[in-house]
Amino acid sequence: MKAVVHDRYGPPDVLRVEDVPMPLPAAGQVRVKVAATSLNLSDWEGLTGSPAYARLGGLRSPSKRTLGSDIAGVVDKVGEGVTRFRPGDEVYGDNLALMGGFAEYALAPESALANKPTELTFAEASAIPQAGAIALQGTKQAVEGARVLINGGGGGSGSFAIQLAKRLGAHVTGVDNAGKQDFMLSVGADEVIDYRAEDFSRTTPPYDLILDLVAHRSVFAYRRALARGGRYRCAGGSVRALLRILSAGSLVGLATGRSIGVLVVKQGPPHFEPLTELCASGDVRVHIDRTYTLDEVPAALAQVGEGRALGKVVVVQSGSDER
Ligand SMILES: NC(=O)c1ccc[n+]([C@@H]2O[C@H](COP(=O)([O-])OP(=O)(O)OC[C@H]3O[C@@H](n4cnc5c(N)ncnc54)[C@H](OP(=O)(O)O)[C@@H]3O)[C@@H](O)[C@H]2O)c1
Repeated sequence: MKAVVHDRYGPPDVLRVEDVPMPLPAAGQVRVKVAATSLNLSDWEGLTGSPAYARLGGLRSPSKRTLGSDIAGVVDKVGEGVTRFRPGDEVYGDNLALMGGFAEYALAPESALANKPTELTFAEASAIPQAGAIALQGTKQAVEGARVLINGGGGGSGSFAIQLAKRLGAHVTGVDNAGKQDFMLSVGADEVIDYRAEDFSRTTPPYDLILDLVAHRSVFAYRRALARGGRYRCAGGSVRALLRILSAGSLVGLATGRSIGVLVVKQGPPHFEPLTELCASGDVRVHIDRTYTLDEVPAALAQVGEGRALGKVVVVQSGSDER
């Protein structure tokens, strides 16, 4: 089968398409004929090996030759002990543990997958799991009238988070680059800020909830941006910022009546299916900026990594039907 592989960290040109042996599902695993794989910033981080936490599985060279975790497709073979799926089932899920979605077939633990609703295409379903779990857990505390800020609001998780916080009745500010301002307004943001022109921690009134998808500021900047009783959670960002938040965040928060910490995202179907239901009913929009073929994975990753993607980018396999 065809797979996009890399043996060293680097820019998209370290990737190549190779013929590799068809993988066999072990106990508890299913093999999925991949129809669509959505890209996440975590794929870019796994490609480049940066920030440093992306090298946890392989310090010098990548432990996963084939990236791609958010898959949707059709079950093709099941391993011993698999009870929830059988060949022919349409499934989707975040395969962060095994990756391998940029290939014609991928193995995934049964526990990572859910049945794809018929209302969504494979491409739409693949866009939901990772970004959806982050957005759902990151906006859980948004309440009617709360002032919520989503930093990185124009990306995959951010565009879901804006919509979810709005549905809960919050006043939502989206922060991203100038090219994503109209997009954030189109998914429901009340206000938008261009992070290259303005530092929200200095210029705007304090927020009750901040979900930060790309943390790089000091703990004191986050304290300044929070109202008393407010909550700041970051899902990703520079290692320096994450370490500062982990070490000093809770102390500074406690001392000043705020809560500052890292969002450790729980994975698996129970954590993204509530968003899938909202997408299937049309209450939340899946915005796919562009689709690419398997051969075009380097270009797709470049679009995400270089910050040109509005919402989600998806690799769709030729020959897979739309639904
Ligand atoms: N905590 C966990 O368990 C967990 C699990 C999976 C993933 N993650 C992390 O969660 C995050 C989710 O990202 P995603 O997939 O939604 O990424 P994405 O689609 O790339 O979105 C990130 C957005 O942030 C924008 N951005 C970059 N620098 C910024 C800044 N300084 N201020 C404001 N916005 C900025 C980007 O725009 P430009 O770059 O175009 O300017 C982009 O629109 C990633 O950091 C990932 O590593 C966490």
